[in-house]
Amino acid sequence: MTSGHPAAPSGQITVRKALATDVPHIQRLIAPYVARRILLGKDDVTLYGSIQQFQIAVDPDGTPIGCGALNVFWDDIAEVRTLALDADWLHHGVGHKLLEGLEGDALALGIGRIFCLTFEVDFFTKHGYLEIGESVVSPEVYAELVRSTDEGVAEFLDLARVKPNTLGNTRMLKVLARGEGGLR
Ligand SMILES: CC(C)(COP(=O)(O)OP(=O)(O)OC[C@H]1O[C@@H](n2cnc3c(N)ncnc32)[C@H](O)[C@@H]1OP(=O)(O)O)[C@@H](O)C(=O)NCCC(=O)NCCS
Repeated sequence: MTSGHPAAPSGQITVRKALATDVPHIQRLIAPYVARRILLGKDDVTLYGSIQQFQIAVDPDGTPIGCGALNVFWDDIAEVRTLALDADWLHHGVGHKLLEGLEGDALALGIGRIFCLTFEVDFFTKHGYLEIGESVVSPEVYAELVRSTDEGVAEFLDLARVKPNTLGNTRMLKVLARGEGGLR
């Protein structure tokens, strides 16, 4: 992580698809949040295997300063995960740019609903996410999702074994496409 103030306004920040060589940068960016139990830690092998899910924000020098991923759960629902900013760049609109990029990826995949599990309720509320309580998938889809070994899916389903990870987090959902917010 760099120190001091950002050298450039957010207008000079670019958001691009991740490269495989970004994995060490993703680890650097998420490390402080993993240490504070705000984000789930990921092994390198998991990040390489899911690198296509990631968008990276880079400063004018090309240095990665933020990352975020879109993980598809089912045919109309995905999760924004591993969204993290270099602390020097917080509150400069970079998180907004990354989230916009990930929502664009969802729309390109024909996905109309995005879930997130977060402590950053204000940030996501400002971006149209609403707090949800119970499951937002049908019992049939739930029965399929419960077969997943992915920890994020377990958190989405609110399974008892991941409750210690989710304590204090808020479950939120955004409907991107009008008329597609029902149970699927
Ligand atoms: C959530 C997170 C990615 C937001 O990143 P961010 O870049 O600070 O977000 P933004 O700058 O787009 O928006 C944050 C605030 O800055 C404000 N802002 C936007 N552009 C700005 C600018 N140019 N100058 C000053 N403020 C600005 C926004 O209005 C917003 O205001 P708010 O704090 O009152 O809500 C960041 O806080 C983070 O990494 N959190 C830890 C990890 C996490 O919890 N991730 C989410 C779950 S996966």
